[in-house]
Formats: sequence, structure tokens, C-alpha cells
Amino acid sequence: MKVISTIAELRKVLDEHRAAGKTIGLVPTMGALHNGHASLVERSVADNDITVVSIFVNPTQFNDKNDLRNYPRDLKADCALLDKVGADIAFAPEVEEMYPEPDTRVFSFAPLDEVMEGPFRPGHFNGVAQIVSKLFYAVEPHRAYFGEKDFQQLAIIREMVRQLSLSLEIVGCPIVREQDGLAMSSRNMLLTAEERERAVKISQTLFKSLEIAVNNSLAYTKAYVEDAMNSTEGFRLEYYQIVDGNTLQPIENWEDSSYIVGCIALFCGNIRLIDNIKYKEEK
Ligand code: PAF
Repeated sequence: MKVISTIAELRKVLDEHRAAGKTIGLVPTMGALHNGHASLVERSVADNDITVVSIFVNPTQFNDKNDLRNYPRDLKADCALLDKVGADIAFAPEVEEMYPEPDTRVFSFAPLDEVMEGPFRPGHFNGVAQIVSKLFYAVEPHRAYFGEKDFQQLAIIREMVRQLSLSLEIVGCPIVREQDGLAMSSRNMLLTAEERERAVKISQTLFKSLEIAVNNSLAYTKAYVEDAMNSTEGFRLEYYQIVDGNTLQPIENWEDSSYIVGCIALFCGNIRLIDNIKYKEEK
């Protein structure tokens, strides 16, 4: 696997592949890779001739300086994992390479970015759109792969592709969970042993809520999840929203949509975790 740190070299290598008729898949990441990322890479390797994985902790999407400072970084371990799962290129630029000058572009994804993460992480999705669009321009992939754990991000990236009239395909991939059900996340490694044990309650509650939803109203099911999180010591719930899976707008009744997802964000100690569950699958 090649490790490349400049856009110029990346373009040169990819232009050669394109000239030879090869298809290119991109998996954008912020590193600290785990099996969730590995599943995205494996999917790209299966779908494309060449798979590029970007590893870049993007400063413009962090609304909290401490979160940016503490975000886990381990390029050597990341490259070892990528080698194992068959990636062709790791693109690991420095901040100056991606942002030679401040990116002043302002995106609007309303109403998709006005709910859930939006109010809690001001500027976050603008930063995501800045870096992901730059990566799309640099790599010009045929397909790009994103995990459904970041459910709102995936919807916003699809909307960005629509707004910018880009021609690549966005592929959403299912959440990968630890054996006990915790959604895989680079942030999990920041949890203390006690917090890690406690964190399993998030997915347990979401799965239990699927059963509760069968015979109860949406409001009752939502309150069940909120109560379970609020009554767990060490948790601080930011939101639990049950939304239409396409518009991301909260709904009030199970009959209001044919695609329904519950999205949660909370602090477990000092670590912010997100997860989601589908009450009705997309048709
Ligand atoms: O989901 C992530 O890891 C990041 O938000 C992304 C898409 C790589 C952009 O920095």
C-alpha cells in the first residue's frame, strides 16, 4: 500500500489509474481505525479497482478544541490495518496541505443540519462538507463510503453531492458493533474501563426500544429511551430523536413515515457517543 501526503502526488497516481480505465473508491476517515472502518474499506475493495483511504483529523469540523486535541491518532497502526484489508492508497495529508488558506465556504443543508447534531455542534457539518468536498475534488472517486453510525452526516453528504452536482455514488454501510452491541467508534478507546462497561447500555436500550415500539406509541418509546439514559449514572443525554430517515425531521406517530430511525447522542463521562436504530427500514 502506498502512503501519500500531497494532493499533487495523489492526483498523479490516480490519473494513471483512471487512464487505465480503473474505478476508484474513496473511504474518508479521521484515522484511529477500527473494524467499522475496515468494513467500509472491504466494501470499497469489493466494488472498485483502486481504494483510497484518507486519514485526516479535520480541524474545521471540531467545535470543541479539547475534542480536537484529544482525538486519537496512530498512523502506523492505521496503515497496518489498511494493508491487511487491501486498501491501495492511504492519503494522509498535513493540515497545511488541505487548508493552505482558511476555507471560507459556507454550506447550508437546511433543514437537514438544523436538527440533532446541528444545534449541539455548531459549524460541525460545515466543516465536514469543507473537507469531504475537498477530498472529492482531489480524488474524483467513482464511489465514496460512509458509515450509517453517523446517520445525519451521511444524509448531509448525499445532499452536498446533490447541491454540487457531483457525479459520484455515495454508499452508506451498516453500523458495525462490538460483541456486546456498542457501536464501533474511534472515541470508544477514550472511555475508561468503567465507562466502557456502562456504554453498552446505549445499544441495549435502543434494541429493547424496538420491542417496545411494537405495542406502544412513538412518544412512549422515545420517553422509554430518554428515561433509561437519564437514569444512568455517568450519562448525560443530549438528544434522542425519532425521525424520518430521509428528511431527518422528527415525527410524532409510527404511521407518519415508512422509513424511521432513532438517533441518540450522549456523553458517557467526558466522551461523546452517538448511535442509531431503525424502527422501519428504507424500502
Ligand atoms: O466520519 C468521519 O470520520 C468524518 O466526519 C469524515 C467524513 C472523515 C470527515 O472528516
